[in-house]
Amino acid sequence: MDHPAIKVIAMPSDTNPDGNMFGGWIVSMMDLAGAVEARKVVHNNLVTVAIDNIVFHNPVFVGDCVECYTKMERIGRTSVTVKVDVFVQRKDRSKGDLKEKVTEGSFVFVAIGADRRPVPIVP
Ligand SMILES: CC(C)(COP(=O)(O)OP(=O)(O)OC[C@H]1O[C@@H](n2cnc3c(N)ncnc32)[C@H](O)[C@@H]1OP(=O)(O)O)[C@@H](O)C(=O)NCCC(=O)NCCS
Repeated sequence: MDHPAIKVIAMPSDTNPDGNMFGGWIVSMMDLAGAVEARKVVHNNLVTVAIDNIVFHNPVFVGDCVECYTKMERIGRTSVTVKVDVFVQRKDRSKGDLKEKVTEGSFVFVAIGADRRPVPIVP
């Protein structure tokens, strides 16, 4: 497995009022990780136009090391689609170290010009 685009520790401030990890925080990490991948081919400004097929497979807990792995799925005329897979690494006293997939989704980014309209991606 390649290096993650983003690696961060889940903090208490990232939880919702019930104490569970706030899904929107995970999605924002995925959006940033997807943008890191998209910037490898898009040299204009980028905006996120769509987020597809997000699935939260397993919970994330405070203290988990959250890692976002990215893969370029499609390079279109003005947009790129990046698959983001999120794993956590967790220290568990009884079970030992654990690494498991928690979330996945596809992020579509569009290259835009100064007028905020889509512009072709120049290889
Ligand atoms: C992104 C934006 C400039 C696109 O404008 P648009 O008029 O829809 O542009 P187009 O129809 O020409 O589509 C541009 C590209 O986006 C893709 N696209 C547009 N809507 C899409 C969708 N819902 N899902 C997947 N791809 C989409 C198109 O397929 C096209 O890709 P391609 O050129 O590689 O084939 C405009 O929708 C926008 O400004 N949205 C707000 C973006 C933003 O603020 N994001 C942050 C969210 S908080």
